[in-house]
Amino acid sequence: MKCTADGNRILSELEKLKTFDMSGPEQPGTTRMLFTDVEMEAREYVKSLMLEIGMSVDEDAIGNIYGTLRGSDPELAPVWSGSHIDTVINAGMYDGMFGVIGAIESCRYISENDIPHKRSIQVIIYSSEEPTRFGMGCVGSRAMAGELPLEDTKNVFDDNGISLYDELERLGFTKKDYDKTVLKKKGDVFASVEMHIEQAPVLEQKGIPIGIVEGICAPSYIQVCIEGEQKHAGSTPMNVRRDAMTGAAEIILRLESLARSYGNTHTVATVGKLSVFPNASNVIPGKVSFTIDIRDVDESVKTELTEKICSYIDCICTMRGLIGSHEITTDDIPCYSDPAISAVIEETCRENNIPYNRMTSGAYHDSLLISDFVPVAMIFVPSHNGISHDPAEFTELSDLVTGTEVLCGTLIKLSNLDSL
Ligand code: GLV
Ligand code: MN
Ligand code: MN
Repeated sequence: MKCTADGNRILSELEKLKTFDMSGPEQPGTTRMLFTDVEMEAREYVKSLMLEIGMSVDEDAIGNIYGTLRGSDPELAPVWSGSHIDTVINAGMYDGMFGVIGAIESCRYISENDIPHKRSIQVIIYSSEEPTRFGMGCVGSRAMAGELPLEDTKNVFDDNGISLYDELERLGFTKKDYDKTVLKKKGDVFASVEMHIEQAPVLEQKGIPIGIVEGICAPSYIQVCIEGEQKHAGSTPMNVRRDAMTGAAEIILRLESLARSYGNTHTVATVGKLSVFPNASNVIPGKVSFTIDIRDVDESVKTELTEKICSYIDCICTMRGLIGSHEITTDDIPCYSDPAISAVIEETCRENNIPYNRMTSGAYHDSLLISDFVPVAMIFVPSHNGISHDPAEFTELSDLVTGTEVLCGTLIKLSNLDSL
């Protein structure tokens, strides 16, 4: 079956979403953090798109949105597609958003053309896939998988000390039953296909429009704090300093060389967020806190690298007379796609003579967390120059259309299957 997607509509919806931005016109990119005013407005916009095509809309107690296109047998477990609409700081306009808009466009095609589908198709918008506001990624999907009980949201804070729980309460989400609306178990959902931009250059370099994701790398986050002695930058000789910043610098460089030593595309490590106290040019830093983000598709390598850097932190702090602490705040497990769902994507590509490439996702996605209770697969479209988490993120219109048409065909097939 050949589905058609309207590229201009997809683009104009993505451009509209881009306007829900808390960063102001002087910044080239978009910043949209969970439960801020602009994010709440963006939610309303996406919900209005769902309602416009006759989908029903619901939200659970952690803010995940469920748009349902009812199937002819709504008792059957639904098929899911969707992604996220929150962003990193100074983001582009495709990461997450394309998966949501493409899924809604697919439902529009199915609905307007009365395409038979036994199972309901649900478009899910997961709360906060990015760790931007609360330092935790995949908040909504993590909660669905039972890895974030409501009580724990009281201990998750943003940089202003506001807890996730307080935000849920302020916005009225706590009025809903958390366990009943959020938690999922095996069998609740038949299959999930998330569409996303690749965020790497492989598809573009090969000139292939579709990626079929076979595995998703998982992150570990480590929160590190190095404490030294805050002193005068002019009058303190070099040999008596206990400089928290130079200790942190050694750790960061060591992390880079450790990750490189594996010589593997998917073994990566990053320090992207750092705060210095008191952060003054003529004061030796007394305290430096930073995050470490380690990824791999091989869990044992991720664990080994995490252990190595933690013991290096202890070692360097002892050598430099610093006090170091490290806490693993996230330790997710890599996942593999369901071969039967990937085969349905492949069949859809073949029927429409669309070239595809099987690949691994270096970025994580909500599919990683929900794979705990539902078989998952993902469709990638090319990212120009592999750029993502950057305002220059770009995917050709024709690729947005091809991806959406493959997603649509895949959802139709899945929604008519009795079993995988
Ligand atoms: C998600 O955006 C990630 O950091 O991989
Ligand atoms: Mn992202
Ligand atoms: Mn994303």
